[in-house]
Amino acid sequence: PRRVRVHHLRQAKDEGRPITVLTSYDALTAGIFDHAGIDMLLVGDSIGNTMLGMTSTIPVTVAEMVPAVRAVSGAAQRAMVVADLPFGSYESSPDQCLATAVRMVKEGGAHAVKFEGGAHLAEHVRLLTRSGVPVVGHLGFTPQAENVLGGKRVQGRGHEAADRLVSDAVALAEAGACALVLEMVPAPVAARVTGVVDIPTIGIGAGPDCDGQVLVWTDMAGMTSWSPRFARRFGEVGEELSRAVRDYAGAVQDRTFPGPEHSFQE
Ligand code: KIV
Ligand code: NA
Repeated sequence: PRRVRVHHLRQAKDEGRPITVLTSYDALTAGIFDHAGIDMLLVGDSIGNTMLGMTSTIPVTVAEMVPAVRAVSGAAQRAMVVADLPFGSYESSPDQCLATAVRMVKEGGAHAVKFEGGAHLAEHVRLLTRSGVPVVGHLGFTPQAENVLGGKRVQGRGHEAADRLVSDAVALAEAGACALVLEMVPAPVAARVTGVVDIPTIGIGAGPDCDGQVLVWTDMAGMTSWSPRFARRFGEVGEELSRAVRDYAGAVQDRTFPGPEHSFQE
């Protein structure tokens, strides 16, 4: 299958074909999602919450991200693989941002990187893009800034905040960003951003009018008992996994597993 590239994303927007994005943190799920035709696999810093037992994305390190990125890029034959830059690894300067992005590309095999923030990071976007690393922006609720934003809250409510979101989106697009994630933004505001910028918007809790949608895969598949309001559970895979584990343990305990068909004879 031909690799999904930046110009395909733009084409999809222009032709009104929604872009499909899921997070992935390992080769197993990356292979499954890639085969299913997902356009972009995001190795999100949500790995902290979903896989590493943390309660936020803030403690996630580059050293924790790189092996996950390598696993996903190794398994994805078609999907574009985007690596999140974790908190503290890019904000200080465009040079710091480029150094971290280069690690994601060289060591991880990522095709692009994503980081959180608006117009103040336009120079970061410009340097990376000119250096050969496509950048996905991330606006609206940006989890790395939850301590400034006052928790997990919808962003861009009210005229002023909406205008600021639009101008941030324009600044990132003009700096060369290849796409924008919009997280927890009122649907009409996300629609306005989508209409204003010529790069694709990828929504999560940002309504139906974005150019694409992204979900954390464990929310999408129903792996955990709680999932956010904006996520639809397309399966109850966590329940099914629990059932399999309980059945396995029961079969070992009552000696119905292994049977003769699972055993070797002399
Ligand atoms: O880390 C992540 O999973 C993300 C998505 C929610 C966009 O940044
Ligand atoms: Na993230």
